[in-house]
Amino acid sequence: MAFNLGVFFGGRSVEHEVAIISAVQAMQNLDKEKYNIIPVYLTKKGEMLTGDALTDINTYKKSGDIASKTTPVTFVRKDGKLVMIPEKKGVFKSKKSTVIDFAFPIVHGTFCEDGTIQGFFETMAIPYAGCDIISSANGMDKVVFKNIMASNNIPVLDCVTFTSRKWVADKDSIVADIEAKIGYPVIVKPANLGSSVGIGKASNKAELIAKIDDAATFAPKLLVERAIAPLREINCAVVGVNDDCTPSVCEEPVMSDEILSYSDKYLSGGKNKSKSESQGMASLSRMIPAPIDDAKTKEIQDLAKRVFEALGCCGVVRIDFILDGETVYVNEINTIPGSLSFYLYEPMGIKYKELLDCIIECGMKRERERNNYSFSYDTNILENGSFGAKGK
Ligand SMILES: Nc1ncnc2c1ncn2[C@@H]1O[C@H](COP(=O)(O)OP(=O)(O)O)[C@@H](O)[C@H]1O
Ligand SMILES: [Mg+2]
Repeated sequence: MAFNLGVFFGGRSVEHEVAIISAVQAMQNLDKEKYNIIPVYLTKKGEMLTGDALTDINTYKKSGDIASKTTPVTFVRKDGKLVMIPEKKGVFKSKKSTVIDFAFPIVHGTFCEDGTIQGFFETMAIPYAGCDIISSANGMDKVVFKNIMASNNIPVLDCVTFTSRKWVADKDSIVADIEAKIGYPVIVKPANLGSSVGIGKASNKAELIAKIDDAATFAPKLLVERAIAPLREINCAVVGVNDDCTPSVCEEPVMSDEILSYSDKYLSGGKNKSKSESQGMASLSRMIPAPIDDAKTKEIQDLAKRVFEALGCCGVVRIDFILDGETVYVNEINTIPGSLSFYLYEPMGIKYKELLDCIIECGMKRERERNNYSFSYDTNILENGSFGAKGK
């Protein structure tokens, strides 16, 4: 029997629109015989809306359609289940409350992919697809991620990191530190954004100051690392649960400039603009499989699996690598990758529908494994305790 699958998407991040495209693609490909799809759209303001029209990309194109074709929802836990309660208005007057059996988050970026929405699911005690809170959070912060990689002997570029507050207070010492430890050219990045937002290259002190000033308007924590030139980027997805995982084929994105930009990623590709607009990450100009030899492919796929395991991932993630000549560095992880990386599994004969089934099964497997652990003690200290400030 089909179960109720809540697809939670959108969210309060700079990648809001990209997440809509990824989610609509997924909702169109999910097996309708296995799942009753319940779209839950998280607006930029943080409202949650539902309505069948949310599975159609055209709903998002005309202003006003969202308001007229959706209704706000709230969630409560009742009788051990997560219940979605729609606001009764307009065509939704007779809409009943719905139990959500399993959640599938398709959000990208800050306040969503970083463990935030996973925290909501954990608090509501509902099983969900994809990485858990800690792997999501560790994957989102580029500095924390680098540290975890380094401690697992996985190659990453060294960086200098500082807060935007400290930058404003003491530019000179930060610039001196970067010049001493890294030199030029460098790349400046916000620690926790995505889609190339706030990223810039600097070849001298004046440019460095300008790029950091710019990045500091986007995020409270920044990093600076050596700029690789000439740069090749290779991406590889991994699907599974912890050490039980399978890498995809590798891709090489094609850049229009030195830095793979937001528009390269989402607005390019395909001659027909309206078609490409709805293709998300799948529309990026790319070479699949990446034109690298078998040994390099294997090296990258093996590293991708090690990254997945080191972070404790679940579902599908995409790991992005940088090639400096023959040397491979792990650049970053996307724990909810654009278009869920379906286009990297298709060349392996895995249909998007099957990949989605696999991601959901991985979430269920993690839930089953977790249920084998005991999370509570029967003793109730409130029954017989004195309430002094003893212990903690
Ligand atoms: N060390 C580097 N040297 C050269 N180019 C880089 C470097 N790091 C990132 N870039 C360029 O900037 C782009 C965005 O950086 P990335 O770390 O992937 O951040 P985001 O999370 O925004 O995707 C990369 O796709 C690449 O084109
Ligand atoms: Mg990137």
